[in-house]
Amino acid sequence: MNGQAVLILGATSSIARALAHNIARQGAKLHLAARNAFEVERVARDLTVRYQVPVTWSVFEGSDYNTHPEVVQTAIDQLGQLDGAIVSLGELGDQQQAQNDFESAERIIHSNYTGVVSLLTPIANYLEKQGKGFIIGVSSVAGDRGRQSNYIYGSAKGALTLFLQGLRSRLAKSGVRVLTVKPGFVDTKMTFGKPGMFWVASPEQVAGSIVSALDKRQDIAYVPGFWFWIMLMIRSIPETLFKQLKL
Ligand SMILES: NC(=O)c1ccc[n+]([C@@H]2O[C@H](COP(=O)([O-])OP(=O)(O)OC[C@H]3O[C@@H](n4cnc5c(N)ncnc54)[C@H](OP(=O)(O)O)[C@@H]3O)[C@@H](O)[C@H]2O)c1
Repeated sequence: MNGQAVLILGATSSIARALAHNIARQGAKLHLAARNAFEVERVARDLTVRYQVPVTWSVFEGSDYNTHPEVVQTAIDQLGQLDGAIVSLGELGDQQQAQNDFESAERIIHSNYTGVVSLLTPIANYLEKQGKGFIIGVSSVAGDRGRQSNYIYGSAKGALTLFLQGLRSRLAKSGVRVLTVKPGFVDTKMTFGKPGMFWVASPEQVAGSIVSALDKRQDIAYVPGFWFWIMLMIRSIPETLFKQLKL
């Protein structure tokens, strides 16, 4: 990571912050982009002071698609080059509300899927032309199977997982790596106070696993790794039985 120029989108997310600390500590220079101007500036200043690396920032909204090419170009201009991008935005939302009100469902879909596709489009094209680089997309284990308790969020993450899979195959030809990250439960703003959480990981633990997966050139990383086995089991439950479960 030393000297690499990395763009982090959704940079005020707890997982993204932990990742930013991890890679800034290794000497990466960063551009942080997020929708909360005050908070992203605060995070950037803190990283600069702690690790003595250049950290710039900008503001964007995930559903303002027509601004995204400029958001990405500004980041590249400020970094002077682009070696990699991390996309970590998302909204869990409220399944009950989203079932009854399409606007809520749409917000979840924009934050977790369409906004990410829109941001990754200019990034992927830039890196493809450059012939090197990496993309880390934060999806979720929730995208592995539709559950009655969160299938709107889950379907957006499932779509993102498929998008990243296709993008990986396309970009592999030009030497660009795409890592799909599927966290299980992580102790962040998103999950604060939610019932039914177990084996909760810290953002720092998740960030460490993501960096190590990138170093190992993995395509997909379940974080922590035991979620691979849990999801294998969940995916293998026959549909007739699965629909009886209160998951
Ligand atoms: N926590 C978990 O258990 C868990 C599990 C699996 C996957 N994930 C995924 O991990 C990623 C990071 O989430 P987190 O756990 O770190 O939670 P978080 O702290 O709530 O981060 C979510 C981030 O997404 C940003 N965001 C949401 N909608 C946006 C929009 N329309 N435009 C711009 N930014 C937007 C939020 O911005 P604000 O700061 O302005 O709200 C926040 O920075 C997400 O993709 C999430 O789905 C989390």
